[in-house]
Parts: sequence; structure tokens; C-alpha cells
Amino acid sequence: MKIFKSKSNLKKYISGKKALEKSIGFVPTMGALHKGHLSLVKRAKKKNDLAVVSIFVNPTQFDNKEDLEKYPQTIDNDIKLLESVNCDAVFIPSVEEIYDSSIVAEKFDFDGLEYQMEGKFRDGHFDGVGTIVKALFEIVMPTTAYFGKKDFQQLQIIKKLVEKTHLPIKIKGRPIFREDDGLAMSSRNARLTKEHREAAPFIYKTLKKAKKKFGIENANSIIEWVENEFKKHPLLELEYFTIANEVTLKSDEKIDPKSKYRAFIAVYAGEIRLIDNVGFKRKNK
Ligand code: PAF
Repeated sequence: MKIFKSKSNLKKYISGKKALEKSIGFVPTMGALHKGHLSLVKRAKKKNDLAVVSIFVNPTQFDNKEDLEKYPQTIDNDIKLLESVNCDAVFIPSVEEIYDSSIVAEKFDFDGLEYQMEGKFRDGHFDGVGTIVKALFEIVMPTTAYFGKKDFQQLQIIKKLVEKTHLPIKIKGRPIFREDDGLAMSSRNARLTKEHREAAPFIYKTLKKAKKKFGIENANSIIEWVENEFKKHPLLELEYFTIANEVTLKSDEKIDPKSKYRAFIAVYAGEIRLIDNVGFKRKNK
């Protein structure tokens, strides 16, 4: 596996591959890789001639300084894991390599997707995500880029970014990977205390129960039910639970039988903020 730290060397490598008409599957990550990331890399490799991964903890998408400082970094292990799935190249730039001297995000208009859910609680987060993903896309110029559906709002925003910037890149969302007890895999899970780790599967259990109620009870009563479940929980604090249209990410007044809906949740387990979501129409993905 080739390891690149500079944009220019990676660009040269990519141009060489493109000249040979090789397709490139790209998986942007912030490292601390888990099985969910590796499944994206395997998919990228299966569907393309080459799999390229980036590992970069992007400062402009963190609204919380402590979250950025404590974000898990396991670079040696990440490299071993990427080699184990036959990744062809990994890009591990420094902050200066990406941002030069000014670490600021560009402002984006994602047609309102950025103001829903995470956008209400994480100021500037999606400008940060848009800035780094656009920069990485311009360097790697992949044929297809792969993202996990755990960050479903991010996935929809990246689709919008590609639509608005006319970058010729296909965006694919892939299913959420879960631990055996249902907790959605996330690099942040490594920071949970033992007791919060034991409590965290309650999030997915509650989503599954809420899903069963969908179509029988109205959205407001499901929301109220979920809020009450978390009020009773001694260790987990609900930030939001909402049922939204998968395309607009808005909570429709009236459920449209032709649209797909998804429940979205953000919960604090001690200091660690966890998010999850479940498709409400089809079998859970
Ligand atoms: O989902 C992530 O890990 C990050 O938001 C991404 C897409 C790599 C951008 O920094």
C-alpha cells in the first residue's frame, strides 16, 4: 500500500492511474478505523480498480474543541487494517497540507439540508465537512466515493455538494455496521466509559421499538414516547429524536406514503455524543 502525505505526490499517482483508465473508489475517513470503515474500503476495492483512503481529522468540522483534541488517533493500527483489506493507497496529510495557514471553512448552501438535525446542534459542522470533502475530491478525483449511512445527513449533504459543484463523482451510501449488541460502530465508541458503553445499546433498542410504532401511531406520539424513555434512563441524555423525510431531512406535517422516512437520534453518553438512525419504511438498514 502506498502512503502519501503530500497532495502533489498523491495527485501524480492518481494521474498515472487515470492515464491507464483505472477507476478509483475513495473512502474519506478521520481514522480510528473500525469494521464499518473496512467494509467501505472492501466495497471500493470490489467495484473499482483501486481503493484510496484518506485519514484526516478535520479541525473545521468540530464545534467542540475538546472533541477535536480527544478524537482517537490510531494511525499505525489504521495502516495495518488498510493493508489487510488490500487498500492501494492512503493519504495522510497534515493540517497545513490541507489548509495552508488559514484553518477556516468555506460557506456552503446545501439547500437547507444543513439546517436540520445535526445542523441545529453543531454550528458550522457541515461547512467544515463540505470544505474538506470538496478539497479531498479535487485531489483524489475518484470515480466513486463511499460513505456510511450512520452519518445519513452528511451523506445527503455530500450528494448535494457534488450536484452543486458538478464534480463527476458518484456517491454511494452503505449500511450501518453495528456491534453485536446493536450499538452503531463509531470511532468515538472507544472513548465511552465502561458503564456508558454498557448503556449505549439502549439507543438502537429504542429506535427499533419506535420503528414498530411507525404507521400505527402518529409521529408526535412516537417522539414523545422516545423522549420519555430517555428521561427515565439514568445514564443517557437525549439531545434530539426526530422522524424526517429521507430526501428533504425535514419532519413532514403529514406522512407521505410515497416518501421514505428515517428516524434520527443524538444522545450524550457521559461526555460522548453518539448519533444513530434507522430507516422507517423498508427493512432496517
Ligand atoms: O465521516 C467522517 O469521518 C468525516 O466527516 C469525513 C467525511 C471523513 C470528513 O472529514
